Formats: sequence, structure tokens, C-alpha cells
Amino acid sequence: MRDLRGKVAVVTGGAGGIGRAMGRRFGQEGMKVVLADVLAEPLDEATRVLTDEGIEALGVVTDVTDYSSVESLAKQVVAHFGAVHVVCNNAGTGGVSEGYMWEHDLADWRWGIDVNVLGVIHGIKAFVPILLEQGDGHVVNTCSGNGGFAPLARGAMGGPATAVYPMTKAAVLCLTESLYTHLEMTGTGVRAHVLFPGGFLNTGIWESWRHRPQQYAATQERRTPAQTLDKVLDRFESAGVHVEFTPLETVADQVLEGIRADSFWMMGLPAPSDQVVSAKAASILARGAPDYLVDVLGKHAESSSETEGGKP
Ligand SMILES: NC(=O)c1ccc[n+]([C@@H]2O[C@H](COP(=O)([O-])OP(=O)(O)OC[C@H]3O[C@@H](n4cnc5c(N)ncnc54)[C@H](O)[C@@H]3O)[C@@H](O)[C@H]2O)c1
Repeated sequence: MRDLRGKVAVVTGGAGGIGRAMGRRFGQEGMKVVLADVLAEPLDEATRVLTDEGIEALGVVTDVTDYSSVESLAKQVVAHFGAVHVVCNNAGTGGVSEGYMWEHDLADWRWGIDVNVLGVIHGIKAFVPILLEQGDGHVVNTCSGNGGFAPLARGAMGGPATAVYPMTKAAVLCLTESLYTHLEMTGTGVRAHVLFPGGFLNTGIWESWRHRPQQYAATQERRTPAQTLDKVLDRFESAGVHVEFTPLETVADQVLEGIRADSFWMMGLPAPSDQVVSAKAASILARGAPDYLVDVLGKHAESSSETEGGKP
């Protein structure tokens, strides 16, 4: 689908970060944009900004963990715009867990799985039949190199990083591969894509705990303070790594180019994670130990007792 003008895009997690940037980029291409998010106020604000820029935009409060909410989103999109052409299953929650994985709060696992995995499954189930009926369209699932390729299992200080987040992103890659093949088997023009937002991105995901829903309330008392972006940046600086944020527009451009080029892998070239992919493949083929695992600074880390959340 090269000519996107007049087409309809739906972006979950559209109230902030990458989702908001994608919505704007789609709008700049002349697309009609539906932003869906569980946070009503930022969603209103994001939708208003697009509308002020002359973009035909609709905001729909949606909880991707709840299938009836996603189904209702699909119905509202079709009722309002008459069609759907691009669906970005992008809503996500970051790592809030502390300690080793056997110490993680079960509520953290449930929250991460429900949003990052079930949320994508709900988007596929509600929207793909609509796309199939039209005969064309694109499903873009937001993954991460953290998990999609290999977990950043050690944090910047050498302690354990969350195991929840990378596990959910590994699932996103796996289910998008299945989606690609299942679509191909039907002979449809509907395409599946997996997005790996690259670089260091200044989004809300570093501090997801700020919007933790009551239904996933923590059941264990925290032993360490929750991660903040400022703290992560301090760690990088103190390790001598200067952080430069990748503009979110770059990720949005990547998505647009990926749709136009019909690329399954939406990732910058060459990406630092290419090395991890090569090392992981070599380890599997050699039946070796998973010594390709790196810390959030991209280095092999020495162990320490400090615990932390990790990079999205
Ligand atoms: N920021 C990064 O470095 C990075 C890197 C790789 C992948 N990602 C992925 O990109 C996607 C977007 O994240 P972001 O970095 O823009 O973070 P973000 O926190 O700014 O945006 C995520 C959005 O998802 C929404 N959301 C959370 N739970 C939801 C629910 N139940 N229903 C609907 N919406 C919900 C949030 O309200 C938020 O607006 C996520 O899937 C994330 O895992 C981010």
C-alpha cells in the first residue's frame, strides 16, 4: 500500500511516546488517524493537537487488556471512518519488577503479559478480519530488541533486570511471525510487520509504574525505589556513556517506510542488535551457552547485588 492518503490508521498506546509520533506521521501523510489509549486525558490532548494540525483524528479510550474494549474500538473506527487500513498494536508497559525473576511480583507478570502480549492478540483478533474483508492493510506490532532478539537480563549496574518485559517482547515477535505466515496462507494482501524502535527513546515507558492500574496492584512491598528515566541517565553518564535520544519522528518514519516497502522487519539498518542476533545464532548452532547476553549498556556485565528494572 504505497498511497496512504485518505486511508485510516489505528494506533494503540497513541496518547504518548512512539504511538503519538506514529499517529502524527500518518496524519502528515494525509491519513485519518485513530489514537487509542487507556489514559483519557493525555489521549484527549494528543487527539486535539493532531486536529489543530489539520489532521482528521479520533481518540478512543481503550484498554487493550480487555477484548470487549478493543472490539468496541474496531466497531467505532469502522462506524466513524468506514474502513481500517493500518493497525499498530503498540500499547505497552515497561519493566516495573525488581530482583531476580523468581522474586518478581506475580502482579508484574500479569500486567506485562496482559498489555504487551494479550493486548497485541486482542488487536489481531478484532482488526484482522476487517482487513481481510477489505483485502489489504497492514498490522504493525511493536516489539523491542530487548526480548525480541535476546533479553537484557542484566541491568546497567550488573544486577538483574526485569524478566517480564523481554519475555513479552519475545512473544510479540513470535506471534507476528505466525501472523505473517497465516496471512500469506490465505493469499490476502494484508501484511504483518514487526517494529523494533531503535536507539534511546525519551518516552513514558521508563516510568510505567506511574500509571499502574488498580487491577494489577502490587502484592509485594518494594525493596528498591522504582526506576526513573533520570536515574537511568545518571547510570549511563557515570559509566561514561553519553545518551543522545533518538527523535521519535525517526521511529515513525521507519514505520511509514516499512509499510511502503512492505518490510516484515521494521528496524534501522544497521542496528546494534544485529550483533546480538549473529552471536545468538552462532551460540544456538554451536549448542553453546547464551554468552551473547549483554547488559543495558550493551556490555557484558560483572555480577553485582544491585537490582533494577531495565531498558524497554
Ligand atoms: N521507549 C523505548 O525505548 C522502546 C523501545 C522498544 C520498544 N518500545 C515499545 O514501544 C511501545 C510504545 O512505548 P513508548 O516507549 O512510546 O512508551 P509510552 O509509555 O510513552 O507509551 C505507551 C502507551 O501505551 C499506553 N498503554 C499502557 N497500557 C495500556 C492499555 N492497557 N491499553 C491501552 N493503552 C495502554 C500508555 O498509556 C502509553 O500512552 C511499547 O510497546 C514499548 O514496549 C519502546
